[in-house]
Amino acid sequence: MQMVPQESLAMLVQQDRVHRNVYVDPGIFEMEMDRLFGRAWLLLGHVSQIRNAGDYFTTRMGREPVLVTRHTDGSTYAFVNRCTHRGSLLCHQAKGSAKSFSCPYHGWTFDTDGSLQWVPTRSGYEPGAAAKIRELGLRPVARTDQYRGFIFASLAATGPSLLEFLGHMASSFDDLVDRAPEGELEITGGVFKHAYNGNWKLVLENHLDGIHPNYVHASSVNVARGAPDPGSPERESDIAIRQMRQNGAPEKVWESIGIWTTAHGHGYMGDYHNDSRLVVGLDNPVFQDYRARLVAKHGEERTREILGVTRWNSIVYPNVSFMSQFRQLRIVHPLAVDRTVVYTYSFKLKGAPEQMFRDTIAFANVVNGTASWVLTDDLEVYERIQRGLGATGADWVDLSRGFGNDVADTHDTRRGGTGTSEIFVRNQFAAWLAYLTAE
Ligand code: FES
Ligand SMILES: [Fe+2]
Repeated sequence: MQMVPQESLAMLVQQDRVHRNVYVDPGIFEMEMDRLFGRAWLLLGHVSQIRNAGDYFTTRMGREPVLVTRHTDGSTYAFVNRCTHRGSLLCHQAKGSAKSFSCPYHGWTFDTDGSLQWVPTRSGYEPGAAAKIRELGLRPVARTDQYRGFIFASLAATGPSLLEFLGHMASSFDDLVDRAPEGELEITGGVFKHAYNGNWKLVLENHLDGIHPNYVHASSVNVARGAPDPGSPERESDIAIRQMRQNGAPEKVWESIGIWTTAHGHGYMGDYHNDSRLVVGLDNPVFQDYRARLVAKHGEERTREILGVTRWNSIVYPNVSFMSQFRQLRIVHPLAVDRTVVYTYSFKLKGAPEQMFRDTIAFANVVNGTASWVLTDDLEVYERIQRGLGATGADWVDLSRGFGNDVADTHDTRRGGTGTSEIFVRNQFAAWLAYLTAE
C-alpha cells in the first residue's frame, strides 16, 4: 500500500475544498486508520454496558478489535481482542458476562483484568519459559478514560488528555446526562447496525448538514405534510410527523440555527428547535411529569437551564455523533475506504417517566432504524456520493458554503455565519490534516 507524502496531503485538503482521493484512495484510508484512528480518543461505549463484574462488550478502534471488561475490583479495562499465544480473536461475542475468556484455538485463558490464568500442558514449556509465559497477558489499549459514564480510549500512549480533546464538546455530554433526573444514563434496548458502501467521513459530514433534509428526505417530508397534525396525547407516529415536518422546514429556519465547531474536528448544531416544536409537546402530561421530577431534584432555575439547551446532533470527531433530545448515540466504524458500519444506541434517562424511553425508541425507529423512512434516504445518498467520487475528471469536492463568514465565538468555538455553513466539514478536514501530517 502506497503512503501519500505529507506535502501531497496538504495539497489534497485545502481550506474550502478537498480532493476526491480523500474518500476513495485505499492508501489514504490506511493512513487514516494508522494516524487518525490510531491517535484520537475514540468513544468505546458506556459504563451501563458493563455494570457488573465480569460484564464485557467487544468493539473496534479503527482496525483493532477491542474487548472492554469490568473486573472483580470494579475497574474497567480495554484490551486488544487478540490471544497472546498465536493470535486468534479471543472473544467473538458482542457482549456478555464471563468469569474469564478462553481462546477458542488452544484454550489459553485470561482473567477479566487481562492476566493469563491458565495454559494447557504447561509441562510442555521449559521451566525457564514459565515466567515468560505468565507475562503474556492481554495487551491493554494505550490509554483509557471516562467522561460522565462514557468510556473512551486512545491507541496512542501520548497526546492530549481526554478533557483537552473534548474541550467545549464535553458540554454536549453534560447536556445529555444532566437531563436524567437521577443524573445517570443507561443504554437499553439493543443496537441498530447499519452498513453502507461509502466512506466513513460521509456520515459525519451529513449529521450537521442543514441543506440536505429538504432534498434527500423530500418524500417523507411530503407525506408528513399531508398527515394529521400531531395530537395530544401523543401517538407514536406523532414523533415521526414532527421530525419529518421539521426536516422540511423552510430555508430561513435552517439559516437561523447555529453551527458551532471546536478544536480537534468536533462540532454541534444548536438552536435547532424548542421543546414545543419538535420534542414531545410541552403541554404533554408525560413531559410535565418529567419536568416536575427535574424540579424536585434541582429546583426551578436549574431545570430551566437544563431544558434550555437546544442542541441537536453533536459530533466528536472522528467516531461519534449523538443527541440528547431523543437520547441517541451513533458510533462510526470504518471498515474499508468504501465500507462503513454505524452502531446506534438508545439511552434511558434514569428517573424519567417510562413513556420517555418509548419516545426514544419511536424516534430511533423513525430516524436511525434500518427500516427508517429517514435513514434509508441518507444511506442511498452516501452510496451515490461514493460512486460519484469514484469518477475521474472532476477532482474537487467544494466546501466553500459560508467560507469567510465563520466567526470566533465564546468557549474557543467558531460559529458558522449561518446555520447552513459548511464550517463543520472544513473543521473536520482541518483536524484530519493535522492528524495525518503530525509526526
Ligand atoms: S491462539 Fe489462543 S490459545 Fe493458541
Ligand atoms: Fe439526513
